Amino acid sequence: MRPKDPFIGREILGGQFRIVEKIGTGGMGSVYKASQPAMNRMVAIKILHPKLVARKDLTSRFRREARAMSQLTHPNTVKVFMYGELEEDGSLYIVMELLEGRNLNQTVRKEGPMPVERAIPILIQVCGALQEAHDMGIVHRDLKPENIFLSRQGGITDFPKVLDFGLAKVTERQMQPGSLILTQEGMVFGTPEFMSPEQAQGRTLDARSDIYSLAVILYEVLTGKLPFSARTPMEYIQKHVMEPIIPLEQRVPELKFPEGLGRVLEKALSKKPEDRYQSAAEFAEALRPFAGASAAMLTSGVTRVPSNDPATPSPPVEVAPVPVAARPPGAMLLIGVAAVCLFAGVVLAMIVMHVVEH
Ligand SMILES: Nc1ncnc2c1ncn2[C@@H]1O[C@H](COP(=O)(O)OP(=O)(O)O)[C@@H](O)[C@H]1O
Ligand SMILES: [Mg+2]
Repeated sequence: MRPKDPFIGREILGGQFRIVEKIGTGGMGSVYKASQPAMNRMVAIKILHPKLVARKDLTSRFRREARAMSQLTHPNTVKVFMYGELEEDGSLYIVMELLEGRNLNQTVRKEGPMPVERAIPILIQVCGALQEAHDMGIVHRDLKPENIFLSRQGGITDFPKVLDFGLAKVTERQMQPGSLILTQEGMVFGTPEFMSPEQAQGRTLDARSDIYSLAVILYEVLTGKLPFSARTPMEYIQKHVMEPIIPLEQRVPELKFPEGLGRVLEKALSKKPEDRYQSAAEFAEALRPFAGASAAMLTSGVTRVPSNDPATPSPPVEVAPVPVAARPPGAMLLIGVAAVCLFAGVVLAMIVMHVVEH
C-alpha cells in the first residue's frame, strides 16, 4: 500500500485552506483539491514535491511559474489566486482556480482523435492565451496535451485552459549563436515529443517555439499520433531537427481532413522559426477557416478577450479510438547536453537524458 499523502486533510495558511484530495501529479509537484471556507469555494493548489525543495533550480522554476502565471489574465489561461511558501515547512504552493474536466492527453486517450470541428476551436482559444503571454514576453516552453486542460464551466464544455508555465521564462538569456549550454544547470528542459527543433538543439527560444509545439499538439489531437514515427525520446528529438513531418493526410489513411489543413500544419511545423506563423494570432487566423460552424462564435482576433460564450461543442462523432502512446504523467525530462555531433550538415547536440520520475 502506498503511504498516505501527508498533505491530504491538512489545513494550510493559517486554516485558510483545507486540502481534500489529490487531483493530479506532474513533474514538478502534485495538484490538490482544497476548500477555502471564507470564500465558500473549492480551489486547486499545486505544491512542489517536498523532495525537490532542496533543488535550487527547481524551486526557482516553480517561483517563475507562479510569477508568470499570476501576470496573465486571459480567460484561457488558468487563473492564479495566490502563491508563496508555506510557513509550516517551507513548501512552495500556487493556489489556482479549480478546473473540472480533463486534460487534452486524457481526452484523446479516452475518446480517440478529435473531429476537426472540435479540435480547431480549442486550438484557436489556446492561441489566444499564448498571444497574451507572448505579448508580455513570456514563452511557455512546455506545451503538450497534458498542459492544456479542457474545462467544463456553467454548461460550457471544451473551454481550454493553459496550465503549467513551469518552464516559462520571462526573459531569455542571450546566447552566442551555436552555443551549447542552454541553462545554468547545463540542461535542456522540455518534452521531446513536442519540442521545437531550436529547443531540441538548445538554441534561444521565442514565441515561435510555442507555435511549433502547439502544432504538434494539434497534429496529435487530430490523428492520435505524432508527426514522426520514433521509438525513443532521442529519436523524436532528432526527427524534430532533421526530418520532414509525415503529411497529415498520410498519417491515418482512414481519417479525412479538409483541404488545406495539412498545409497549415506543415507551415507551423517548419524547421526554421522564420518559415512558421510568426505569432499565435497569425496561427489562429490560419486555423479559423477549419473551425466549422463554431468559427463565428470565436472572437475574430485572439488578442481580444472572448465573450462568455465560446465555441459550442460540436456533436460527438464516432471515431474508433486510436491509442496515443502513454507518457508517464508529466514526467519531466532533463536532458544534459553532453557532446556535439555532426548530423547531415547540422550541428546537433548529443543529449544525455535523465528522466526525473516522481
Ligand atoms: N487548476 C487545476 N484544476 C484541476 N486540475 C488541474 C489544475 N492544475 C493542474 N491540474 C491537473 O494536474 C496535472 C498536473 O498539473 P501541471 O500544472 O501540469 O503540473 P506539473 O508541473 O507537475 O506538470 C494536469 O495535467 C491537470 O490534469
Ligand atoms: Mg504539466
